[in-house]
Amino acid sequence: MKHRPLPGTDLSLSVVGFGAWAIGGRHWGGTDTADAIAAVHAAIEAGITWFDTAPIYGDGQSDVLLRQALGDIHREGLTVATKVGVVYGDDGHVHSQLTAATLREDLGHTLDRLGTDHVDLLQVHWPCEHDTPLEETFGTLADLRAEGLFRHLGVCNYRADALAQIRAITPIVSLQAGLSMLRREVEHDGLAWCRETGVGFLAYEPLGRGLLTGKYTHVPTFGDDDMRRFDDRFKGHRFEHARRLTADLTRIGRKVGVPPAAIAIGWVATRPGVTAVIAGARTPEQVRQNALAGSIIDHVKLWEIVDRVAGLHGGTPR
Ligand SMILES: NC(=O)c1ccc[n+]([C@@H]2O[C@H](COP(=O)([O-])OP(=O)(O)OC[C@H]3O[C@@H](n4cnc5c(N)ncnc54)[C@H](OP(=O)(O)O)[C@@H]3O)[C@@H](O)[C@H]2O)c1
Repeated sequence: MKHRPLPGTDLSLSVVGFGAWAIGGRHWGGTDTADAIAAVHAAIEAGITWFDTAPIYGDGQSDVLLRQALGDIHREGLTVATKVGVVYGDDGHVHSQLTAATLREDLGHTLDRLGTDHVDLLQVHWPCEHDTPLEETFGTLADLRAEGLFRHLGVCNYRADALAQIRAITPIVSLQAGLSMLRREVEHDGLAWCRETGVGFLAYEPLGRGLLTGKYTHVPTFGDDDMRRFDDRFKGHRFEHARRLTADLTRIGRKVGVPPAAIAIGWVATRPGVTAVIAGARTPEQVRQNALAGSIIDHVKLWEIVDRVAGLHGGTPR
């Protein structure tokens, strides 16, 4: 497993991180506790050193399972990154609420569930959907950092213009945003900004929620509590596009002895400016496949070929 420094910190991250959203269960069709815990253990065995969670993942269930699996989260060399700011409204929908009171409360709850008094990386989950000024949000977070509740501040899903404004208020060390062969918009916005400024970039959803793993040969069906039921990429011509792309990744992977998931993750990890990739997984076998990306990252010739193939397929059609 290859590791890279997170710029501006003393943290070293495995290029493949573990994303804990799916093990939370909600919106992913439920979770299997034993599998989830075994997946976290498999991640550590495969050299994965960091874990990404959030209060909203399974209403705190991903935090709880991580704690159960990791025990002391400050185990040497392991990093846990959590988030704040997204809450369920009275209408049952999630929205971003970034007032001082919500941030303090949300952070307190996630730390309690994780069984710790601080985390290495705290991220704002997504931009405010109310009228809280950036100064209130990021001034409060600077205070919480000074109180020792987290060491480094990152954000998710902000655009480049807002990132510059935030950085004028308080230092941030990372942007987390979606990036995969099926989702490339960020390359010209947040990722370009990170490259220019030297801020770390953590890429999520590298597998297109499973589409790029080779497991889907036909349009799948999902239960009501699985958001992929409503994801257009799992339907019609967009599904067919992902299926054909994955068939190419499978062929390339066979030549170097890895599954398509490792090729899809490795391609993201080798985009200029990307610090590390967060791959979601629910079973030990998925984790082991995904972690293989970390062992082929330096294969320059391979990534030239994969990038050509990704370019030929040209992102997800509308
Ligand atoms: N900050 C944000 O706003 C944000 C947004 C999205 C994600 N994230 C973070 O990024 C992480 C990764 O994104 P994601 O989980 O949405 O998408 P993803 O990594 O593209 O897909 C993960 C899903 O694909 C399936 N899968 C994974 N590896 C597989 C393998 N080797 N073979 C077959 N199937 C496999 C699993 O689902 P099944 O077993 O159900 O098929 C898994 O839950 C999240 O867990 C979360 O930590 C952050």
